[in-house]
Amino acid sequence: MRLVLLGAPGSGKGTQAARLKQHLQVPHISTGDLLRAEVAAGSPLGVQAKEIMARGDLVSDDILLGMLEDRFSRPDTANGFILDGYPRNLAQAAALDGLLQRIGQPMDAAVQLEVDNELLIERLAGRAKAEGRSDDNPESVRKRLEVYDAQTAPVIEFYRQHGQLTTVDGVGTLDEVFTRIIEAIAPVREVG
Ligand code: AP5
Ligand code: MG
Repeated sequence: MRLVLLGAPGSGKGTQAARLKQHLQVPHISTGDLLRAEVAAGSPLGVQAKEIMARGDLVSDDILLGMLEDRFSRPDTANGFILDGYPRNLAQAAALDGLLQRIGQPMDAAVQLEVDNELLIERLAGRAKAEGRSDDNPESVRKRLEVYDAQTAPVIEFYRQHGQLTTVDGVGTLDEVFTRIIEAIAPVREVG
């Protein structure tokens, strides 16, 4: 199963991907997590990305595509993956499409988690207290939501036009949202 999770910052992509990974037995690929690992390791890429991420802007498409190609070259993606945090603009969506076609593994489904901005801000404020992620401060959250609306929201349309999009209500308990996602992808799982 090759699945991409779409949704604004705080919509629950990472939370649900962790559960889906167990359920579908495929790896969870989060470009945010990959970048945070580079930052933590102090690699040249991490040094470059650190400030950009902290203020809530997007890291360059070239860096992201390189990271993704590298990740897809690992054997654990042979049976599929859950992608979280990529693509984040139309150029990335086209690049991913090309990459997956080249390796003969087209996307099966795109699931959009829908949550209104007020609740997103509340969730991220909660995580700021619990985890202290460098981009969960109010100013960076505002920026991330702006970047999402301007650059990432068009990606939803991209997958809709490709007939791969299902939209899921992301408000509710973790179990409720999980069940909705499983129901949303059931038709494609039967085919695949
Ligand atoms: P990334 O790590 O992808 O962050 P994000 O998209 O801003 O999303 P979050 O991780 O904040 O939210 P989420 O949807 O995963 O929600 P979560 O499950 O954590 O990217 C970070 C940065 O890296 C970017 O800003 C950019 O700089 C860079 N980057 C990454 N990818 C890139 C790319 N492709 N191109 C360029 N740059 C890139 O949940 C959030 C909180 O809500 C948690 O505390 C959780 O416990 C809680 N929660 C979740 N679900 C529920 C629920 N149902 N009820 C109550 N609380 C809930
Ligand atoms: Mg996340």
